[in-house]
Amino acid sequence: METEKKKIVFSAIQPSGTITLGNYLGAVRNWVNMQDEFNCIYALADLHTITVRQEPAVMRKNILDAYASIMACGIDPEKSLFFIQSHVHTHAELAWILNCYTQFGELSRMTQFKDKSAKHADNINAGLFTYPCLMAADILLYQADMVPVGADQKQHLELSRDIAVRFNGLYGNVFKVPEGFIPKNGARVMSLQDPTRKMSKSDENVNGCVHLLDTPEVIMKKFKRAVTDSEAVVRYGEGKEGINNLMSIYSAVTGKTLEEIEKEFEGKGYGDFKTTVGEAVVEALRPIKTRYEQLIRDKAYLEECYRKADETALRFSRRTLSKAMKKIGFIL
Ligand code: TRP
Repeated sequence: METEKKKIVFSAIQPSGTITLGNYLGAVRNWVNMQDEFNCIYALADLHTITVRQEPAVMRKNILDAYASIMACGIDPEKSLFFIQSHVHTHAELAWILNCYTQFGELSRMTQFKDKSAKHADNINAGLFTYPCLMAADILLYQADMVPVGADQKQHLELSRDIAVRFNGLYGNVFKVPEGFIPKNGARVMSLQDPTRKMSKSDENVNGCVHLLDTPEVIMKKFKRAVTDSEAVVRYGEGKEGINNLMSIYSAVTGKTLEEIEKEFEGKGYGDFKTTVGEAVVEALRPIKTRYEQLIRDKAYLEECYRKADETALRFSRRTLSKAMKKIGFIL
């Protein structure tokens, strides 16, 4: 089959809240664009979310909402595998194994662990510490060639590669050593309230983060309140993080270059600019929202999609898990 020759792309996203504009422009939109060229495998990384305490009812809702939202962005179940991590038991199993091939010192160096343990000082659990091993399991189970990740996940990807190389060194070629890449047209969307920080669903200031399913009114309000600077010139430059962020969001949703945007707003104030960016985002998200509303009403269809994908993912990942276990010395 022709698809066998295509490179395997693996990526995952945590359903730890609603999907944000940052998730969309930074990741999911690229997932959608890669579907024809590659053999794409995407997961909703729900096992990862419990490293931070979750409210059961909220978690349930978030998982289904995230599944529907990501599909609404254009993930096509006929082209790509899009499954739910916790439904595919090989992930937790390989994660345990990889825990035993990863050093305490390596995990201690992970900057995300340091940040998160500072933020959740009352719950520095072992899962938070070994989280990169679960992420490595996700990737290595599918013999992925390429893993698109955000800049904040680069260190985890490097560790996945180190683990794969180490394991292969001991037992022969079991895992494909994946290449990480930060998609070049993947915008890094920053908080509208603190543009030095990444847009995040856990932002304390609700106006910093735009959610995919926000109403047009809410989106407009958030853009109108976006932090800028006192220069009052729409240009990309140092010390202009707020404007830079708005420019790259506008560029990402319209396809216009930064130069074109500077021209477009020559002599115009920030008020006009913020309104135009807000409107462009509303228009970009409108079809996604409509599709989401159709999908979330059709739970049977959603379930059919993830059950089918879960099953295929299990079949595929089992091969790698069995191979790894045999090499280690387990009796299968
Ligand atoms: N840890 C990633 C994040 O928080 C999500 C993730 C889990 C992931 N498993 C993965 C990303 C495997 C890429 C590949 O963003």
